[in-house]
Amino acid sequence: MLKVILIGTGNISRFLYDVFISHPEVEMVQVVGRNEKALEYFSSSTPVSNSFEKLEDADVYILAINDNAIEEVSHRLNIKKGIIVHTAGSISIEVLPKHLRRGILYPLQTLSGIIPEKMREIPICVEAFDREDYEVLHQLALCISDRVERIDSEQRKQLHLAAVFANNFSNHMYYLASEICKDHEVPFDLLRPLIRESCNKIMSFSPYEAQTGPARRGDLSTLEEHLNMLTNKKLQQVYTTLSESIQSTYGKKL
Ligand SMILES: NC(=O)c1ccc[n+]([C@@H]2O[C@H](COP(=O)([O-])OP(=O)(O)OC[C@H]3O[C@@H](n4cnc5c(N)ncnc54)[C@H](OP(=O)(O)O)[C@@H]3O)[C@@H](O)[C@H]2O)c1
Repeated sequence: MLKVILIGTGNISRFLYDVFISHPEVEMVQVVGRNEKALEYFSSSTPVSNSFEKLEDADVYILAINDNAIEEVSHRLNIKKGIIVHTAGSISIEVLPKHLRRGILYPLQTLSGIIPEKMREIPICVEAFDREDYEVLHQLALCISDRVERIDSEQRKQLHLAAVFANNFSNHMYYLASEICKDHEVPFDLLRPLIRESCNKIMSFSPYEAQTGPARRGDLSTLEEHLNMLTNKKLQQVYTTLSESIQSTYGKKL
């Protein structure tokens, strides 16, 4: 049985709590947070506290707090034994106090809107310095997900960066597409089946194989026509930059 303390009361903390509270291999020892109201979510079945200095003993202390507070808060905690971990994609393990056993449990997923049946598919990236600590965190990560990967801090930062391209930028493309639709009074909804199909395709093909469109085909007249249709300079720049990137990937020049 792994004894766990959660520090922070936001999205990740609630997600982990919901997983751990009913898990036979985890004992939720305490939830610590500065927000009294937010602590109510946990207080019916776990002791809660707003004191970061007085912590119970646990095997793993999970700092599920804002990235910019991790270093400062981790140095305020009074931990005698156990492993301290954070859950951030872009923060190094090195910010955690060096005199403690340290680690990372990073869920590579944005948790807003995730449906319960998909939770066990969320990759959990685990890092630790010692083999023994890694084994403990690996065991805990398996309580959350079937997909546990050993990833070091540099790889995790690169993964986080890749996720911005794959997820945040592609969503911004949907937004720009929706603006074009709005300007010309066509429903964005008409594009949803196409978007769904592309998302399905990427599950079985490599992104390299899945690419389609005028830049991929080297269709210069369509590229020129599209650029002329775009009156907005920002959209023209985005269109040109992405088309050039696609063309250079497939060895064709604009
Ligand atoms: N959400 C996701 O999908 C997701 C996915 C992967 C990784 N992560 C990582 O998980 C961590 C937590 O994210 P989240 O989405 O749970 O954030 P969140 O919902 O905004 O919650 C942040 C928590 O941190 C607390 N906090 C912030 N500054 C603090 C300070 N100086 N002292 C004490 N507590 C402080 C907040 O307390 P108050 O309520 O009092 O402000 C709140 O309980 C971050 O490192 C994030 O990068 C998040």
